[in-house]
Amino acid sequence: MEAKHRIEELRKTITEHNRRYYVENAPSISDYEFDQLLKELEKLESEHPEYASADSPTQRVGSDLAKPSQEKTGGFVQKTHRYPMLSLSNTYSIAEIEEFVQRADKALGGEKFSYSCELKFDGTAICLRYKDGRLSEAITRGDGTKGDDITRNALQISNIPHKLHGDFPSEFEIRGEVMMPYDSFERLNAQRLEKGEAPFANPRNAASGSIKLLTAEEVKERGLFCTLYHIPAESIAFASHEEALDKAASWGLPISDSRKICDGIEGIKQYIDYWDIHRSELPYATDGVVIKINELSSQRSLGYTAKSPRWAVAYKFKAEQASTKLLSIDYQVGRTGAVTPVANLESVLLSGTIVKRATLNNAELMAEMDIRVGDYVFVEKGGEIIPKITGVDFDQRAPGLEKPVFPANCPDCGTALVKAEGEAKWFCPNDSGCPMQIKGRILHFVGRKAMDILCGEAGIDQFYSAGLASSPADLYSISKLQLVALEGWKEKSAQNFLDSLEKSKSVPFERVLFALGIRYVGETTAKSIAKHFGDIEHIAAASVEELTQIGDVGAVIAESVYAYMHSPVGLEQIERLKAAGLQFAAEADQGPKSDSLSGLSIVVSGNFSIPRDKIKEMIAAHGGKVSSSISSKTSFLLAGEKSGPEKLKKCEQLGIRLVSEAEFMQMIPGEKAVRKEEIIEELTLF
Ligand code: IVH
Repeated sequence: MEAKHRIEELRKTITEHNRRYYVENAPSISDYEFDQLLKELEKLESEHPEYASADSPTQRVGSDLAKPSQEKTGGFVQKTHRYPMLSLSNTYSIAEIEEFVQRADKALGGEKFSYSCELKFDGTAICLRYKDGRLSEAITRGDGTKGDDITRNALQISNIPHKLHGDFPSEFEIRGEVMMPYDSFERLNAQRLEKGEAPFANPRNAASGSIKLLTAEEVKERGLFCTLYHIPAESIAFASHEEALDKAASWGLPISDSRKICDGIEGIKQYIDYWDIHRSELPYATDGVVIKINELSSQRSLGYTAKSPRWAVAYKFKAEQASTKLLSIDYQVGRTGAVTPVANLESVLLSGTIVKRATLNNAELMAEMDIRVGDYVFVEKGGEIIPKITGVDFDQRAPGLEKPVFPANCPDCGTALVKAEGEAKWFCPNDSGCPMQIKGRILHFVGRKAMDILCGEAGIDQFYSAGLASSPADLYSISKLQLVALEGWKEKSAQNFLDSLEKSKSVPFERVLFALGIRYVGETTAKSIAKHFGDIEHIAAASVEELTQIGDVGAVIAESVYAYMHSPVGLEQIERLKAAGLQFAAEADQGPKSDSLSGLSIVVSGNFSIPRDKIKEMIAAHGGKVSSSISSKTSFLLAGEKSGPEKLKKCEQLGIRLVSEAEFMQMIPGEKAVRKEEIIEELTLF
């Protein structure tokens, strides 16, 4: 009876977690915790075959078919997979990988076979079908048997070829993973926070939500990419998995360069050890290593269980976690008035960086975790760059720790906080008088993605305290004399600040609009509004209905823009900034910045000091074309650190030139390198 109860309970819990993961794209437990629950259920079911059920989550693949609720998605036709899309059995233990190898040795008797080791890409599975060399169908995994037809969205993923070249079969199917690189993920979440929307928990959820967006245009903006790793053996006639994938790469399909063929357990272990360390250098998320029997004849003799192939296994890396002490909690007031609790931690080393602070999000989450100052807490860095607290180590809780009290008043100006129905955050409503909000708005205005003015938090503090600036427009009236009178300011730093103010007068309109700090108007939205209306006068004259005509703009954003454009404070800022000489009209489309890369076909591989999609933007802006695979038509390989060995080999064979990041920067006039670290710094909440 005891076991029966637990089995039922586990089935219910796991089904709910599957729903949160696949349908909501918002998991509430870690992959590790989920896998432990599934393992427990598998064990109980094998001990009690009398309670077996075909409906158990141990027998079925999680389904993403229902409509995700987090964004406007859905409306896809469902299609049945020709070959079911299965899952992989997975483990966190090397001993179980050793067992897998022993089982394969035994089952395959004297057959000679090898293993293909690959990364386990942490995205969302996709199945592509090519007919006569053209992409004819793209389907999500769905429930494994049928999935959503997302062909129109797949066509927007930059490295999925619409057309193949070479000796491709007339019809075949290939499967892989759609992923969102870290930099696109960070940008997307920053925009979502800006608009007051819930951020995605990790790049996987973001990718999975993005491929089901309603408009192909939106999908294009999400910066997704795809890696393909499996051709169902039934659909091709090759001897090995390796040969099939190499061939697929030659037809122009995006296949990973990090594959390795091994003879046995030693090679497999080396591969795992290598990637356990080096995966942090990749620009996208991986959550383990997949080990597959390479020979397709051996795969056929091993076959499948109901849920996964017997010829493959996944070794999963544990998310790096650390335990440390919670020293205190700060309540930070942002420029919108939102109050965010921030944990101050005893320094701890996590994934190579020292963590001292982590976000606690909001009052509800703090209460849910039952966190107290003095507790030992678990800090995790998953796909995300900002560390988060995942729980409290109750075994180490000292007696007498008290529940933290979320402040009732603004920690900065003392105004009573308010919380709107259905919102998770508390707000300080004193937007015109709360110093933190005022300084926050100026800080946003000077930010690199906004006006890019040389001034940090400390400077803004000084300006505010000295009565020199309580709004962005005030910055333009500060004189050199006033600056050098401030502590720590010298002639040189004052001049630099004034020069950057001067330079900001040529910042394009879309960034000025973003810099104004209108609630919910992030970078992308500002760009769309600026492009649509052309100048501030037309935006100010637009009705809420007219504003909602823009793809990116929903009712909440439209109302916020309308309110700003009709508020005395907003109008005054605009008038004063206009008088200071800022751009309030979009320039006519200038076309490419230069033609220095015109006619060149460039392949980009490896890691760079700047985000890869910025590099791709630069190539396009200077007239070049980015291509995903090396061919005789490739002009050069832009090779970053750890460029794919396959790509390097191919370049050597075809005599194609390698160009370093530094050389590339010299080829394009007037580009400023934006370092990845700068972006990370900006996205950090504190
Ligand atoms: S092979 C028949 N190879 O992991 C099995 N899957 O947890 C075909 N995945 O459903 C899958 N990287 O979505 C394979 N190198 C890789 C993979 C991979 C990630 C995903 C895939 C699969 C899931 C299982």
